[in-house]
Amino acid sequence: MRIKDFKLERYFAEHEFTAKYLLSSSDCEGYSLQSILQQASPTELGIWENLKLGYTESKGHPLLRQAILQYYFINDIEQVVVASPGELNFITMNVLLSPNDHVLVVSPAYQSLSEVVVSLGCEISYWQPDPTKWEFDVSTLATLFQPNTRLIILNFPHNPTGAYLNRQQLDEIVNLARQQQAWIFSDEMYRKLMISQIPELPPISDIYEKGISLWGTSKTFGMAGLRIGWLVTQDKEFLNEVVAFKDYLSICSSAPSEILAMIALNHPDSFIQPNINKIKANIELFSAFIQNHNKLFHFIPPKAGSVAFVKINTPEPTLDFSNRLVKKTGIMTVPAEMFDYPGKFLRIGFGRNNFPEVLKKLDNYLNETH
Ligand SMILES: Cc1ncc(COP(=O)(O)O)c(C=O)c1O
Repeated sequence: MRIKDFKLERYFAEHEFTAKYLLSSSDCEGYSLQSILQQASPTELGIWENLKLGYTESKGHPLLRQAILQYYFINDIEQVVVASPGELNFITMNVLLSPNDHVLVVSPAYQSLSEVVVSLGCEISYWQPDPTKWEFDVSTLATLFQPNTRLIILNFPHNPTGAYLNRQQLDEIVNLARQQQAWIFSDEMYRKLMISQIPELPPISDIYEKGISLWGTSKTFGMAGLRIGWLVTQDKEFLNEVVAFKDYLSICSSAPSEILAMIALNHPDSFIQPNINKIKANIELFSAFIQNHNKLFHFIPPKAGSVAFVKINTPEPTLDFSNRLVKKTGIMTVPAEMFDYPGKFLRIGFGRNNFPEVLKKLDNYLNETH
């Protein structure tokens, strides 16, 4: 199998642990182990303290799968599989697709959502938003269907634009998929990061019999280091194929991570709401910053999630701007090139604690140079 480099991850590999300030991370600040254990009930703490570090169940610890199902209509733990989010994306595409299938995918997007499809030799069409408002139009998606369309890949809240759909749009997509008997893989990694006054969408697995929902602890819960994600779907046969494929990859998840994820999922108010509050406060600060730099930037605030894709008016390519910025100031930003997106945009992430400090540094730098 041949697969292209994952540009965004390669760029992070170069800078994430050497740059002093990260302004483009999509995850929320990582919670400490201690802060998770402080929320644990006596029973949960007992499970943690008596945990044996052997192999775990391939589908995921039953108590973790039970905790996950609090967030879905489905209530059968056989309809959940746990693994790392990227692994679940990789397995899903391998299980569902053959070389002559056609796939529709949101674009720009986290590269693995399209790259695994391409590596499997499938035909692919990209569903793109209007860049003046970062809105996706379902009537455009409808024109992209082909007789061999087998899968539609969604990602709302959307990385990198912060776009979101309304319920009517999601229902229209489900109707289009159903007419064609196509699957929907819905990457819901930023689920529940509802930062504006718009209604929350249900997970696709609640409303479509061929819908596959992906979520995990990395973004919403601020626990990327657990490497825990999960798929939920009504189709048990598909999940059995996922588990069989997983035997060639991780086989099972990390035992401590499963228990920590279970504790987090059982205490959402302690972890999700602080992240929402932080994102909102950082967006407000960024909006004020933009007022002072409105010749250089054009900002469409995200509707949901933790990131925005901000237009920048520089003569040079955005990659050059980002490279210079990190070299001169230690501030790492992700340029549009990492999403193979034409035009000049920077992804900005609002989930980190030191966002105000980093923004001040950027402000100083821009005041000196622009
Ligand atoms: C849309 C989307 N899907 C999946 C992932 C992968 O999540 P993880 O890094 O936890 O594997 C990311 C990470 O940035 C993402 O933005």
